[in-house]
Amino acid sequence: MPILNSDGIDGLFLLSGEDSSIPMGELDSLIRIYHPNTELSSVGRRLVIAKNVNSETVDIISRRGAYVYIGGTFVTSIQNNVRVRDIEEVDFRPFIQNGDGFAIRMMGTRDEDVKVKIETIIGSAVTRQLPSLRVTLSNPDVLIWGVEQSKKIYLGCTRNWDRKKGWVQRRARSKPFFHASALYPKFARALVNLTMAREHETILDPFCGTGTILQEASLMNIEAIGIDIDKKMCMGTNRNLKHLDLKRTSIIRSDSTVLPVKSADVIATDLPYGRCSSTKGKTLRTILDSFLRDTCRILPLGRKATLVYPKGIKLILPPELVLTQKHEIFMHTNLTRVVVVLERQ
Ligand SMILES: C[S@@+](CC[C@H](N)C(=O)[O-])C[C@H]1O[C@@H](n2cnc3c(N)ncnc32)[C@H](O)[C@@H]1O
Repeated sequence: MPILNSDGIDGLFLLSGEDSSIPMGELDSLIRIYHPNTELSSVGRRLVIAKNVNSETVDIISRRGAYVYIGGTFVTSIQNNVRVRDIEEVDFRPFIQNGDGFAIRMMGTRDEDVKVKIETIIGSAVTRQLPSLRVTLSNPDVLIWGVEQSKKIYLGCTRNWDRKKGWVQRRARSKPFFHASALYPKFARALVNLTMAREHETILDPFCGTGTILQEASLMNIEAIGIDIDKKMCMGTNRNLKHLDLKRTSIIRSDSTVLPVKSADVIATDLPYGRCSSTKGKTLRTILDSFLRDTCRILPLGRKATLVYPKGIKLILPPELVLTQKHEIFMHTNLTRVVVVLERQ
């Protein structure tokens, strides 16, 4: 059920703590899909306010976002030397209904005493306003959460928070077919989201490996086409997708430098680098150039391709492709990944 008065609310998002600009890039892409004119303002590195959205949008983004730890309705911000009076002035009634099970959680506050103090003050203010609420610590109907940032406490309110996004069940080692080149599902999901693919559209991964990008797309109701030159990879991907009971996917065994597909709404891929994954005798430059050429041919105007490649390779873009986002992710001393989002002009 949405928050009462669901239109014209401000959203509050807490991003997960990766040392990268990709969480903010992903949130921005998701907002542009569902509420294109919304202004995002960052409060510190992990906390973002989305002005004038609706609770359905906040719900969808919270579920889709790989790097969205929690999203909800922005209730208010108060000074962090919390006084009982300040909290009592906050009207929680638009967000909670009598009879709801609720919980309060301060997030990212290291000092346990401060945390307990603030949670207690908020708890008594809420129960004074809505006396028939029940405190429910596991799976509450409503979670009121707070984050301390820039000498203030930002309060958000989330209904039916689904904390677990199933990363562990979907990681490479948990699936029947494993290969060392497999991406983390969280990262693969962010790559899909950066393309701004909508439900029921088609995404293409021309170097699909074990199928992590396809798997995450399919879970978001996006049709996925995967291509790999390696028969073992194609068969393994099929096994992985079957294991996860994912049906909106098709796998083609082919050489993607001679792409057998004529159209797709968006593209996301992680190129073979020749370290964990074989380039089958071709240079990364040849693979990259053919990828860019085919992206120009396949992508509809205004649509996006997300591409991952190792730092150190120069990206020479044709005039039809414009760079809209660029992120770097340090993996280990020998590998920093570059993620770019390209838009077809
Ligand atoms: C980095 S891996 C992809 C990993 C994948 N994202 C995953 O999560 O499992 C790159 C894949 O490209 C495939 N590949 C290499 N050259 C290819 C080509 N010319 N056409 C299609 N696939 C190719 C390799 O077999 C490898 O599986």
